[in-house]
Amino acid sequence: MAHIDQSRRRLLKQTASIGLFTILPSGLLSAAPNSRLQTAHVGVGGMGAADLRSVSSHASVAVFGLCDVDQARLKIANELHSAAKTYSDYREMISELGDQIDAVVVSTPDHTHAPAAMTALNAGKPVYCQKPLTHTVFEARQLRKMAKKAGVPTQMGVQGHSGAIYRKAVKIVQSGVLGPVSEVHAWSFKNWGDDRTELPSAEQAPANLDWNRWLGSAVERDFAPSIYHPREWRKQVDFGTGTLGDMGIHIFDTPYTALQLGSPLTVKTTCRNPTGIGHPEKNRVEYIFPGTKYTTTTLRWTWSDGDFAPPTPKRLGLPEDFELPNQGSYFVGERGSMLLPHIAEPRLFPADAFVDYKMPSVEDGNHYHQWVDACLGKGQTSADFSYAGALTEALLLGVVANRFPGVELQWNARSGKVTNVPAANELLRDNYRGGFAVDNL
Ligand SMILES: NC(=O)c1ccc[n+]([C@@H]2O[C@H](COP(=O)([O-])OP(=O)(O)OC[C@H]3O[C@@H](n4cnc5c(N)ncnc54)[C@H](O)[C@@H]3O)[C@@H](O)[C@H]2O)c1
Repeated sequence: MAHIDQSRRRLLKQTASIGLFTILPSGLLSAAPNSRLQTAHVGVGGMGAADLRSVSSHASVAVFGLCDVDQARLKIANELHSAAKTYSDYREMISELGDQIDAVVVSTPDHTHAPAAMTALNAGKPVYCQKPLTHTVFEARQLRKMAKKAGVPTQMGVQGHSGAIYRKAVKIVQSGVLGPVSEVHAWSFKNWGDDRTELPSAEQAPANLDWNRWLGSAVERDFAPSIYHPREWRKQVDFGTGTLGDMGIHIFDTPYTALQLGSPLTVKTTCRNPTGIGHPEKNRVEYIFPGTKYTTTTLRWTWSDGDFAPPTPKRLGLPEDFELPNQGSYFVGERGSMLLPHIAEPRLFPADAFVDYKMPSVEDGNHYHQWVDACLGKGQTSADFSYAGALTEALLLGVVANRFPGVELQWNARSGKVTNVPAANELLRDNYRGGFAVDNL
């Protein structure tokens, strides 16, 4: 079987076991640039099916392991990759396949991202993990730390990050043509919230679904249809991260990179009171970030979702009849503004001032293949866990703030604590269910 050769695999293992893993892997991997990469995939339905297709479209990838807690979804993936071994427990897959796999793709609901990704990192495997990187701030910090320690290529699934539109927008902002940016407005019409105040009655999970493994490390909960699996878990605080976690991470991604932001100073949400069940159906989240070389002294960043989106054109200083896209962001600079519709070309305002402006030329990239290439020792990933962990942390603080509507949370990044609302710190970490503990989490 053609894959990363055994001697190199043995060497990787030896260096890992004597603690040299942090400095050696990329050099070692480049020693075998034409090797195949054998992958294992956790979650192969929904976006997992798209991830499987995109990763395996790389000529050097051989799919070796498939894992899903839904047998119907696993069967479909297995029909496409019949040589792969199938599992319903990712821990078994990673441990049993061991040296036969080189890298792991995680495409499960948010609450399982960190447990699965950390299991892979603990085994020294490179990881591609869907967005947002984690369900909690603690997990984001731990994944970031352990990925650095493992020294393996990682990538978060914000595929637009490597695309031409994103790269062009970053270049425009960093060219200084807008002047220092004072505000960013970001929004999505989507509503991954749930305002119900009671959980539906329990039902038997379908025979094809292993409900206990779907829950994994999360809280104990009875199965009910149409609220968790598939997709709907996004709306529930114990499993998903609402619209901010789902769409905010894509839309925040460009301003976060372009303005070289770090940790916010404060976060405040306007939304309904918490129910303990679902995320609010509409949120407005206001962040203040410390200034950078691309911003004014501080940067105000406002997120609106559900019925709060899009903001009124007037609020952005645009003519009242201006039609805003239903998802996107708007950068307000001292010399001009940029509208960046989600996955569409940026536009500069006031239009008259930019008639002679020549848009920068950029290359389009393939986010998935970038990760595969990095695993094979060619180049680097652009949204590794160091970047993704910081972006996810900022975003999740907004999700925490929606449990304290109207209260401005003060964040101390160094201590990793909300300094003025002790109860908010209880929400920075999940208590893992018995039997689902993972080292380093
Ligand atoms: N990057 C993007 O554009 C994009 C788009 C959609 C979804 N996503 C992300 O992809 C992830 C999945 O979202 P989705 O909409 O596909 O959800 P989904 O519920 O439709 O699919 C999740 C899949 O994972 C499986 N699964 C659940 N728990 C598992 C476990 N413990 N082990 C193995 N398999 C498990 C499910 O059976 C299902 O096949 C989320 O993190 C989401 O944010 C990203």
